[in-house]
Amino acid sequence: MLSKEQNELLCRIEPGTVMGDTLRQFWLPAIRSANLEVDGAPERVRMLGQNFVAFRDTTGRVGFLDEGCPHRGVSLALGRNEECGLRCIFHGWKINVDGQVVEVPSEPAGSNLASKVRVNHYPAREEAGVVWVYLGKKEEAPPFPAFDFVGRPLENMVPRKAIVNCNWVSLLEGLLDSSHVSSLHKDWLPTGQDVLSGPNAGVMGALSVTYEIEERPYGYQANARRKLANGTEVNRKTEYILPSFCMIPSTLKTLRGVSCIVPIDDEHTNFWTLSWDTAGPLDAATADRLRNVGKLGPDPDNIYFPRAGADKVWNQDREAMKKGTSYAGYPALPIEDFAVSESQGIIVDRSAEKLGTSDIAIIRMRRLLFDLAKDYQEGRTPEVLSGNIEFGKIRPVHEVVAADGAPVEIKA
Ligand SMILES: [Fe+2]
Repeated sequence: MLSKEQNELLCRIEPGTVMGDTLRQFWLPAIRSANLEVDGAPERVRMLGQNFVAFRDTTGRVGFLDEGCPHRGVSLALGRNEECGLRCIFHGWKINVDGQVVEVPSEPAGSNLASKVRVNHYPAREEAGVVWVYLGKKEEAPPFPAFDFVGRPLENMVPRKAIVNCNWVSLLEGLLDSSHVSSLHKDWLPTGQDVLSGPNAGVMGALSVTYEIEERPYGYQANARRKLANGTEVNRKTEYILPSFCMIPSTLKTLRGVSCIVPIDDEHTNFWTLSWDTAGPLDAATADRLRNVGKLGPDPDNIYFPRAGADKVWNQDREAMKKGTSYAGYPALPIEDFAVSESQGIIVDRSAEKLGTSDIAIIRMRRLLFDLAKDYQEGRTPEVLSGNIEFGKIRPVHEVVAADGAPVEIKA
């Protein structure tokens, strides 16, 4: 349970807020690289309650600027992307990827206005098929969190996201909460004789979860232990990487993934998932499965489609529930997560919740975020931004151990 003040501090991220400034210290995913063509249409991007424009110039470089033209605020997303710069259609001012005003055709010849105008532009970098940006105040961006996907070919990757109509904290809590999996997602998990098979082996073997949390310099590793009736133990060790990255365990050997929760504003959130195969290019069937083709929307920029809100009870299929063909009434696992998160309310009132021991992972996450915000307020560089973290070596672990301690082989 949090006080109303703590909850506000945790959830509010728009400009001028403590948590907003805290998140702005990090490199965050902003837009899929494929959306930006050389000299193609710029894209409007909303993050942390601010509007930006992203574009790819004639040389292939990505620019990330405040959305409004520095002249009189017309959206540069309406601009013409030509010859190494974005030209505002209102008066023709042209700005390059470094945020320099290079032409001011509306002013008389010899005017030095261009050299005096400052445009807010932000460091941008492409990794894993995504443009990442640093929106912080420091002159120098922190080291990039070089997860295991860095340097891997794009054919090995599937980046995608969902736009969810709720505050970012609810989605982050859902990601880190392993104990909901055996309830909400039970339709998709092996049971009975097959309980020890597949990527989520053993999760349906026991409904109750005991957590063990080990702090890490970047966040924590949370082991959600499930004890089966015959003494077998299922350990799912989820990695939480500050401020909003999560790696969920699986038994798959070469397929890896990281999720990242990025607020659009206080009431809307981008839920990013980056998946990659360390063995080589993803085959079409796996890529389709990762994209949930046929079950989710085809748009990789918003897989949550079709959506419905509270007025249609999030499109829950009561018929399927009645027939017994669906537990939660949804056609795909991610939709179950999005629907329950939205149903908690746009910003959850955490002063009214009743937490138990299976909620320890989210309690610890909140504490780490409060510590991170305190570091920010007191001018300390947190360890996660020190440059000393080997992000590429962080691995979630899924292991099944027999009562005598011997590892149990998982069926495919
Ligand atoms: Fe879930």
